Amino acid sequence: MAMIALKPPMGWNSWNTFSGNVSDTLIRETADYIVENGFLDAGYDIVSIDDCWMLRDRDENGNLVPDPEKFPNGIKALADYVHSKGLKFGIYEDAGTMTCAGFPGSFGHERQDAKQFAEWGIDLLKYDFCYSTPGCSDVNLYRRMGQALRETGRDIIFSGCWGNDGVWKWMRSCGAHMWRLTGDIFDSWESIEKVGFGALGLEAYAGPSGWNDPDMMVVGLNGQGYVGHIGGGCTTNEYQAHFALWCMLSAPLLMGHDVRKTTPEVKEILQNKELIAIDQDDAGIPAYKIPGYSDVLAKPLADGSMALGLFNREPNWKYMALSWDYCGWEVTDRVKLYDVIAHKDLGEFKCGATLRVEGHSCLIFKATRI
Ligand code: GLA
Repeated sequence: MAMIALKPPMGWNSWNTFSGNVSDTLIRETADYIVENGFLDAGYDIVSIDDCWMLRDRDENGNLVPDPEKFPNGIKALADYVHSKGLKFGIYEDAGTMTCAGFPGSFGHERQDAKQFAEWGIDLLKYDFCYSTPGCSDVNLYRRMGQALRETGRDIIFSGCWGNDGVWKWMRSCGAHMWRLTGDIFDSWESIEKVGFGALGLEAYAGPSGWNDPDMMVVGLNGQGYVGHIGGGCTTNEYQAHFALWCMLSAPLLMGHDVRKTTPEVKEILQNKELIAIDQDDAGIPAYKIPGYSDVLAKPLADGSMALGLFNREPNWKYMALSWDYCGWEVTDRVKLYDVIAHKDLGEFKCGATLRVEGHSCLIFKATRI
């Protein structure tokens, strides 16, 4: 197997909007839209079905059976279609006896399922942790599937979910390429804050081929769809800050809205190539929080520059300060700031900068020492 997921995976997953309402048509239309509307060019190259794609029972040979009403052409034909568009194809299973929505889990069938996934042409497996088997440790449950996937010989991104005792500490050793840090995200600023800022401090665990995953994004849900109804929606500034935070964290960028209904504002957020370049930077170093400052993040970049983020988590605007010494520079260095959201050069700064940041918003700079 090749070394894969050298950059945080990017794509789309069905769960946040569609939960159990997945179908062949939805996946095909999503794939078409992604290719025809600039998302593939921006880097989003995975289309994934989440839970609820199968029947409640395995067949007499113990195989998983795709729901024939939702997927009348089967999974292989759908994967072939997605591949024909230049995209990768992802699917979902669970380490326990059932998936979170109550469909058959992979426990005891790991090799059979992994072989099936490889035969179908799956490129990413999201592997959940509901109904985990008592008596079998979390680590071992993920190890069983990690091993089974490797033995197929196919390059499959293994996307782990939760587990006990800090998955970030051991998930990479199970063969996973990303791991969920928290419970589910919802479409609200509170939820974005909780899962996004919760990732700070764990940056040392992530890097090429193994990424911290604060969950799939809710950008553009606008209170619609499954987790949209639960969270109620966000403002455009909040979605912008959410996307920027995920990029600073080197997080997988998995869209969760109905892409077929993408608005121009949401497209602009999700296709910001300069922010995406920060997420996908070759150094693969997630941002760290500057101690003593409120929500100032720094992400070292491969070209010797730095991405700096000022996140205002309060509802009203405030001034926020940057100082150079915390990111390995001298306080008195001259630094050029380029605003990657406004796409604007702000010129040269010495001994730091103080900037106004709107409520529930952020400023992100590419900072280069002169
Ligand atoms: C869990 C996961 C979600 C989704 C659902 C599917 O809640 O965290 O992302 O996959 O299961 O049932």
